[in-house]
Amino acid sequence: MKKVALVTGASRGIGKATALLLAEQGYDVGVNYRQDHIAANKVVEAIIAQGGKAVALQADIADEEQVVAMFARLMAELGPITALVNNAGILFQQSTIENLTAARINNVLSTNVTGYFLCCREAVKIMSARHGGNGGAIVNVSSAAARLGSPGEYVDYAASKGAVDTLTTGLSLEVAAQGIRVNGVRPGFIYTEMHASGGEAGRVDRVKSLLPMQRGGEPIEVAQAISWLLSDAASYVTGSFIELAGGK
Ligand SMILES: NC(=O)c1ccc[n+]([C@@H]2O[C@H](COP(=O)([O-])OP(=O)(O)OC[C@H]3O[C@@H](n4cnc5c(N)ncnc54)[C@H](OP(=O)(O)O)[C@@H]3O)[C@@H](O)[C@H]2O)c1
Repeated sequence: MKKVALVTGASRGIGKATALLLAEQGYDVGVNYRQDHIAANKVVEAIIAQGGKAVALQADIADEEQVVAMFARLMAELGPITALVNNAGILFQQSTIENLTAARINNVLSTNVTGYFLCCREAVKIMSARHGGNGGAIVNVSSAAARLGSPGEYVDYAASKGAVDTLTTGLSLEVAAQGIRVNGVRPGFIYTEMHASGGEAGRVDRVKSLLPMQRGGEPIEVAQAISWLLSDAASYVTGSFIELAGGK
């Protein structure tokens, strides 16, 4: 069966590494991004240069209409989705709770939680046996923050990842008999541009000596776990989480 993956937030970081790896493994890849079309197009060009197939798909995953339109375009250009990687996520300036506003909290939750739900919903409609689909696999990119809580940094972000974990558990049970596996990964401290959004681009280097493995992680190390969870090698794995936090 043809393998078609959608990776949200694939213009850089963990999503980019995942899109490139899945393309190497024979998936046609939908490269979702929100605004950086130049970076997303470079990912698509890299995949095509390796002999793969990919399309850039602009959509804000927090926007229901844009998510529906993105899935329609994916279907039209690559065919039925077999693998979804919910990866696009945001966080804001490091802060204690006194400075968290409703607008900020809702912004984090609408991307990191509602966006994941909407993409799961659209994927399930195509993959599930009860809708005539052939099954598939979903990986939700959570965070070690769901366990650690990110005190003094971004408890709102950590709480959104707690919700992602509950989504993963609940949906895995809901669709297990529909031929769909749903799993999660919890990265810890990975070298990406996300930390600059929190106001500390060098955050991984600051904390690395405190980690059991005494180093930060690379995006490819997360991508490899995601690709394994999506693969037939993980055919009896659902509702599971892989920790990628160097032992933290
Ligand atoms: N880096 C870490 O240490 C770490 C640790 C634990 C968990 N994670 C999780 O891993 C995932 C990827 O993180 P990263 O570090 O690779 O992040 P990143 O480098 O900041 O990249 C984020 C990606 O998400 C896209 N994006 C953001 N908001 C979006 C939206 N509303 N709709 C569609 N795309 C959107 C961005 O696209 P544009 O540039 O076009 O906006 C970009 O491609 C996130 O879920 C994050 O929470 C990361």
